[in-house]
Amino acid sequence: MTHSKDALRYGSEAHYLDARLYDHAYARRKHDVRFYVEMAREHGAPVLELGAGSGRVALALARDGHDVVAVDRMDSMLDRLRERLEKVPSAVRARVEIARGDLRKFRLRGRRFPLVISPFNVFMHLYSRSDVEAALETCRAHLTPRGRLVFDVLNPDLRAFVRDPQRAYTSRPIVDPTTGRTWAYSEQFQFDPCTQVQMVTSVLRDPDDPSDLRVLPLAHRQFFPAELEALLHYNGFEIEERWGDFSRGPLAAEAESQVVVARARRRR
Ligand SMILES: C[S@@+](CC[C@H](N)C(=O)[O-])C[C@H]1O[C@@H](n2cnc3c(N)ncnc32)[C@H](O)[C@@H]1O
Repeated sequence: MTHSKDALRYGSEAHYLDARLYDHAYARRKHDVRFYVEMAREHGAPVLELGAGSGRVALALARDGHDVVAVDRMDSMLDRLRERLEKVPSAVRARVEIARGDLRKFRLRGRRFPLVISPFNVFMHLYSRSDVEAALETCRAHLTPRGRLVFDVLNPDLRAFVRDPQRAYTSRPIVDPTTGRTWAYSEQFQFDPCTQVQMVTSVLRDPDDPSDLRVLPLAHRQFFPAELEALLHYNGFEIEERWGDFSRGPLAAEAESQVVVARARRRR
C-alpha cells in the first residue's frame, strides 16, 4: 500500500484541524509532559518547542517558570494555544512566544536555545530523508554549543504493521468536546513497508446514522532505532541518552516510545 503525496499531506494535518478534539483526546496524557518539564529543569531555558501544537507541553513549561518559543505550522493548533493562554495568569502567558512555521525551514535569526524539544511524535511527520535532514538542521541552527535536542517517536510495533488494512478496529466511543455528540470510534491501519509510513485512519461515526462520519487519517513515518541513530549521526548529532519511556526505562523491544536526548556530535 503506497500512500500518495496528497494522502501524506492530509495525513499530517487532518488530526490537528480540530484542536479541541485533539486536546480532549490527549487530556489524560501527562507522563510525557512531566518528563519535558524535567528536561527544562535539567538543561535550562529558554526552550524552543518544534511542533508545539495547542501547547500541551509549552503551557506546562511556562507554568513551571520556563520561557518557551512554541512553533507549529497549523493555525488551528496555534489558535487553540492562544485561546488557552488567555485563561492562564499573565506571568505564565508572558513566558510563551508563539511562532508559525514549518520545522523543516523555520529560523529565528540570532537566537539559540539550551534546549530544543519536539514532543509527542512530531518527527513522525518527516516522511523523507530530506525532511529529516532539514528538521535536524533547524534544530542545530537553534542550539547553543552545549545544548540538547530532546524528542520522542514511537518504537515500531511490528504487529501493528501486519494488520488487515480492510478491517476496522473498534475502540471506545468518543464524546465530541465541542458538540457533545457521541461518536462510535474505529481505526484502520495501512502500512507501506517501503516508505515506512503507517497510515492510521480514525473513523468517527454517528451510531444512529452511519452515513454521518468524520474520517481523520494520521500518517506516521516509523523510525527503527538503529536507523534513527544513523540519521542523527550523519546529521551531526550523537545520542546522549535513549529511553523506552518517559520514566527513563530502557529501550527494549516492547517499549512504546523512543525518547532521545541528543547533542551536537563532537569531532574525533
Ligand atoms: C502530535 S502533535 C504534538 C503537539 C505537541 N508537541 C504536544 O505534545 O501535544 C504534532 C504537531 O506537530 C505539528 N507539525 C507536524 N509537522 C510539522 C512541521 N513540518 N512543521 C511544524 N509543525 C509540524 C503538527 O501541526 C502538530 O501540531
